[in-house]
Amino acid sequence: MNILHIDSSILGEHSASHRLSAAVVARLLEAEPDASVVYRDLAIDSVPQLNGALANIANVPLEQQSAELRHDAAKRAAVVDEVVAADVIVLGAPMYNFGISSQLKSWVDALAVPGKTFRYGPDGAEGLLGEKRVVIASARGGFYAAGTPLAAHDHQETYLRNVLSDFFGVKRFEIVRAEGLKVSPEMNSRGMEAGLQQAAELRIS
Ligand SMILES: Cc1cc2nc3c(=O)[nH]c(=O)nc-3n(C[C@H](O)[C@H](O)[C@H](O)COP(=O)(O)O)c2cc1C
Repeated sequence: MNILHIDSSILGEHSASHRLSAAVVARLLEAEPDASVVYRDLAIDSVPQLNGALANIANVPLEQQSAELRHDAAKRAAVVDEVVAADVIVLGAPMYNFGISSQLKSWVDALAVPGKTFRYGPDGAEGLLGEKRVVIASARGGFYAAGTPLAAHDHQETYLRNVLSDFFGVKRFEIVRAEGLKVSPEMNSRGMEAGLQQAAELRIS
């Protein structure tokens, strides 16, 4: 089994999603100790942000591409290759300003490559990542469950589900969640404990 472990918090060793994603990977390794793990911390090893030159690169002859453009394109392509090679993707995903971190958004933007993660057919877009398992390690300051007052403000988990599952086709899309982390110190402990418990109980088959 190939595990791709991605973190995207800006908070380094203080990050709740780092702790949670590490617990998910530890759980997966309990079942398959020989699994390979590729790790990428997007806050340290970032994916170049999508821009006009990168979006248009297919229309520019190689000899006219700058060294920087080629470097950025190669880095983005490597990210796609990592995802294609993975069986399980564990994604540490904090909520910032109701969405995901800009570092994680750049990673998602790099993945949207026709023929790799999706394709357009007669019936519209079709995801190509159906066989992969994705586990989101979600950390957030408040509470956003369906039916609660802030539910409509969740552009973090809902976005990741839309793009990874609905668009790229991942069928086994799961979330372990530590929430309410900024409500109070007590809620922080409780939220973290609940998230770690979900990680420890994650189905491994
Ligand atoms: C820049 C920033 C923006 C945040 N925005 C939100 C937010 O919109 N909603 C929320 O519930 N929590 C918000 N939080 C709290 C984080 O979701 C919480 O601290 C969580 O632990 C972040 O994950 P991390 O520790 O892995 O970075 C924000 C935190 C930071 C640092």
